[in-house]
Amino acid sequence: MRMLFICCLYLPFILLSFCVQCGSTGSVCKITNEVADCSHLKLTEIPSDLPTNITTLDISHNQLRTLPPANLTKYSQLVSLDAGFNSISKLHPELCQNLPLLNGLNLQHNQLHMLSDNVFTYCTRLRELNLGFNIIAIKNDPFKTLKNLKLLDVSHNVLSSTKLGSYQQLESLQELVMSQNKIVELKKEDFLFLSNSSLKILDLSSNPLTEFHPGCFRAIGNLYGLNLNRVHLGPPGTEKLCLELSSTSIQNLSLSQVQLSHISNSTFSRMQKTNLTILDLSNNYLSAIENGALVWFQNLKSLNLEDNKIAHLFSHSLDGLNNVNFLNLRNSIKQKIDDFAFQSLKRLECLIMDDNTFPEITPHMFTGLENLKNLSLSKCIMTLGTTKRTITNRTFSSLAHSPLQFLNLTRTKITDIQAGAFSWLGELKSLDLGINEIDQEIKGHEFQGLSNIETIYLSYNNLLTLTSDSFAFVPSLRKLRLRKVGCRNLNISPSPFRTLQNLTILDLGNNNIANMREDVFDGLHQLEILDLQHNNLARLWKHANPDGLVLFLKGLQNLRLLDLEFNGFDEIPGKVFHGLPQLRSLNLASNNLNLLPEFVFNDLASLTSLFLQKNLVTAVEKEVFGTVFANLKELEMGENPFDCTCESIAWFVNWLNGSKTYIPGLNQYLCNTPPKYHSTLVIHFDTLPCDNAPFKLLYIVNTTVTLLLIFVVLLIHFIGWRIKFLWSVSVNRVLGFREIDRPQQQFDYDAYIIHAQKDKNWVFKNFIPLEGRKENNEPIIRFCLEERDFEAGISEFEAIVNSINRSRKTIFVVTNHLLKDPWCKRFKVHHAIQQAIEQSRDSIILIFRHDIPDYKLNHALCLRRAMFKSRCLLEWPAQKERVNAFYLQLKSALKSSSRIQ
Ligand SMILES: *[C@@H]1O[C@H](CO)[C@@H](O)[C@H](O)[C@H]1NC(C)=O
Ligand SMILES: *[C@@H]1O[C@H](CO)[C@@H](O)[C@H](O)[C@H]1NC(C)=O
Ligand SMILES: *[C@@H]1O[C@H](CO)[C@@H](O)[C@H](O)[C@H]1NC(C)=O
Ligand SMILES: *[C@@H]1O[C@H](CO)[C@@H](O)[C@H](O)[C@H]1NC(C)=O
Ligand SMILES: *[C@@H]1O[C@H](CO)[C@@H](O)[C@H](O)[C@H]1NC(C)=O
Ligand SMILES: *[C@@H]1O[C@H](CO)[C@@H](O)[C@H](O)[C@H]1NC(C)=O
Ligand SMILES: *[C@@H]1O[C@H](CO)[C@@H](O)[C@H](O)[C@H]1NC(C)=O
Ligand SMILES: *[C@@H]1O[C@H](CO)[C@@H](O)[C@H](O)[C@H]1NC(C)=O
Repeated sequence: MRMLFICCLYLPFILLSFCVQCGSTGSVCKITNEVADCSHLKLTEIPSDLPTNITTLDISHNQLRTLPPANLTKYSQLVSLDAGFNSISKLHPELCQNLPLLNGLNLQHNQLHMLSDNVFTYCTRLRELNLGFNIIAIKNDPFKTLKNLKLLDVSHNVLSSTKLGSYQQLESLQELVMSQNKIVELKKEDFLFLSNSSLKILDLSSNPLTEFHPGCFRAIGNLYGLNLNRVHLGPPGTEKLCLELSSTSIQNLSLSQVQLSHISNSTFSRMQKTNLTILDLSNNYLSAIENGALVWFQNLKSLNLEDNKIAHLFSHSLDGLNNVNFLNLRNSIKQKIDDFAFQSLKRLECLIMDDNTFPEITPHMFTGLENLKNLSLSKCIMTLGTTKRTITNRTFSSLAHSPLQFLNLTRTKITDIQAGAFSWLGELKSLDLGINEIDQEIKGHEFQGLSNIETIYLSYNNLLTLTSDSFAFVPSLRKLRLRKVGCRNLNISPSPFRTLQNLTILDLGNNNIANMREDVFDGLHQLEILDLQHNNLARLWKHANPDGLVLFLKGLQNLRLLDLEFNGFDEIPGKVFHGLPQLRSLNLASNNLNLLPEFVFNDLASLTSLFLQKNLVTAVEKEVFGTVFANLKELEMGENPFDCTCESIAWFVNWLNGSKTYIPGLNQYLCNTPPKYHSTLVIHFDTLPCDNAPFKLLYIVNTTVTLLLIFVVLLIHFIGWRIKFLWSVSVNRVLGFREIDRPQQQFDYDAYIIHAQKDKNWVFKNFIPLEGRKENNEPIIRFCLEERDFEAGISEFEAIVNSINRSRKTIFVVTNHLLKDPWCKRFKVHHAIQQAIEQSRDSIILIFRHDIPDYKLNHALCLRRAMFKSRCLLEWPAQKERVNAFYLQLKSALKSSSRIQ
């Protein structure tokens, strides 16, 4: 029993895990177009259920032990196969035979050891082969057939020599990666297999190389690039290497971390007979470059000396580098740079000097850099004058003849800038003085002479006091960053920015600015980005401000991005955002805003991003937000104390639910009030009960009443008579005006005949014969005919009433004459109907002599056929033969009871 219970309980899980298990045999591979990604699936078999037309198969990071060619046959379109990170220890020659299009084969991180001679026999199309991180030892010539191979990676194996073949082969090889092996010496014969190859890069990094046998590199057809990073060469080893590289085609040499502690005038002397263009000497604990030690690199274009410990850069250390255009000296000079140290670098365009230590920028430090465009001195520590580091009008005099465009002086602990400090740099476009300790009043002359300047970064300095003329000399400025520079007061007239007609970016954030004039941004017609976050501008927009509202945004007709975060705003004037037709992003986050004026955002026709999070907004109403929300692509409004009542929030919740706007962090939209909803999610607020309840109800009631009215009117119009009639009938029935079931003899007549005067003769002729005679000469049927039976001396009116009362039925002879007979119409008919109603519908018989449409009947006599039972409606036959049948019908109608059945 218990087992059963447990089974039931766990069965679904067992089934589930079974499914996961069986699923892992293939269908879980991700297939996009012709690429199948089966990596990281713990596979032990090659999936057999993939589309046969896949061209790329990734089965890396699994548990395969072999690559049986038969299992790949169906994927004969494969161009690329990645079987890296498995446990494959054996390869079959048929692999390439079954995959004739194979271009790239990755077998890194497996357990391949011996490669038989024919293993790649059929891989003639292969262009990339990665055998890195195996335990391969090469004998004979496994690669001899790889005529198209461009990249061969045998890094991190157990190779003890570079010999991958015993005779010339691999003529297409461009990149040979042999890093992290056990290669100790390079012998000429070990490279003979490459004697007809042109290697762009030979990577021998991280090998315990100690010896370069004569002619080893010259045995290679062409060697353009050599990477010996992390080979412990030291200065002597480097010299030996250069001897072997002499007269080769080498262009790119990487000697990072080779313990080259010192460069003498002989270290690279053999490189004179090369055309080396790129040299990497980074990370070498290099302490000294002797004068003239680099003169051998006449063709060098790029030199990297990053991360070294050069104590003193001599005035001729860099001599001879006439063609270098990129020099990286980041974190490499520790004490001193001589004047004229760069004088021979006539072609240098970019000089990275970040993070160096030297006493000061001397008047001839950069002399000779005739082509320098970019100079970065970021994080340089200048040890002279440690309390005051001033940029004087001589500091950059050595750059007077350089076409410098970019100067980076961040984090250099500059404390002040003298007048004319940059007057040498007439072509400068960008000046970065950010993150320094500048503490001064900016009078304007500091930037004198920067006639082409476009960008000045002054952000994060100690204290910049602006004046009216701060930027008077730099009208070409496009970007000005003044974030966190302590300029609290912008109540300056005229405004310091008034000359900057071309300014597009102005950053005044984090300055605690409390005072600005309305005209502070006047004339900045090109301004697109204005950062005013983290200031103290709330007072300027208060209606109670003694100086009146300060609408400082007016005229910024090109503004696209406005940041007003953290300003303490609790009021926003209704018209403050008018005249900003281009504004796309408005950030009002982290203020104290609650109620916003109606239509405040309506003028922002281009706004796509609005940030209002962390305010005191309680209500989000259509009048304020309806228009602006309609175009929004992004909204942030979380962390406000929303009032979750119908009036405050219902419209917002409905909008949120239907909106396509990107609204991150909806779980931060929490209700604050009323207490019932405190801390519940705004998005969960149920708008159904409010859904404008009074209006909706009114609407429903209204519509219903109207529809009902229309229905009733139509009903009355079309069948009102019927209702009236049935009503009368029912009332009479209820009140008991039933036919007093008088026995036959209590009536004097069987029927009173109503007819038009003009029909008199016809009635006499056709009805009197019907009366018949009994033996006592009494008529069998007695009709009451006005002309015959009315008592004399009584008024006609009374006579009619009496006669009708004394007759059991009333017969109407309906003819066209009757419809026109006024007497009939007005009185007789009315009375007959009255009686009929009082007694029963069956007391009236209509005989139609002419064909009378119902509407005429109704119009003339207020009668309708539908009021009567069919047996009470008789038609005078047109054919004589049928007259007898008519009489029978009439008799039966006369005999029928008048009571309601
Ligand atoms: C290859 O296919 C055979 C037969 O389908 C199968 O038994 C074997 O496990 C497969 N091997 C691999 C590594 O996929
Ligand atoms: C590859 O095969 C799959 C199904 O096997 C098919 O949906 C797809 O269209 C094929 N792709 C091409 C390029 O033939
Ligand atoms: C060397 O390669 C070139 C093409 O790269 C070829 O024409 C020439 O025959 C090859 N020489 C030898 C000896 O294989
Ligand atoms: C290298 O410098 C030494 C002195 O340090 C000098 O005697 C020698 O001539 C220089 N060699 C070359 C090739 O300049
Ligand atoms: C270096 O380049 C020059 C000109 O391109 C060429 O004449 C010379 O042979 C090249 N030197 C070497 C060693 O390749
Ligand atoms: C540099 O400033 C000093 C005063 O500080 C002045 O005497 C000298 O003429 C200025 N030099 C140049 C080149 O402007
Ligand atoms: C100046 O250099 C610093 C540090 O390398 C960098 O972060 C900054 O972006 C640079 N300034 C410019 C304008 O490129
Ligand atoms: C402003 O930009 C325009 C157009 O790029 C240019 O013609 C004008 O010279 C610039 N004004 C200043 C003061 O640099």
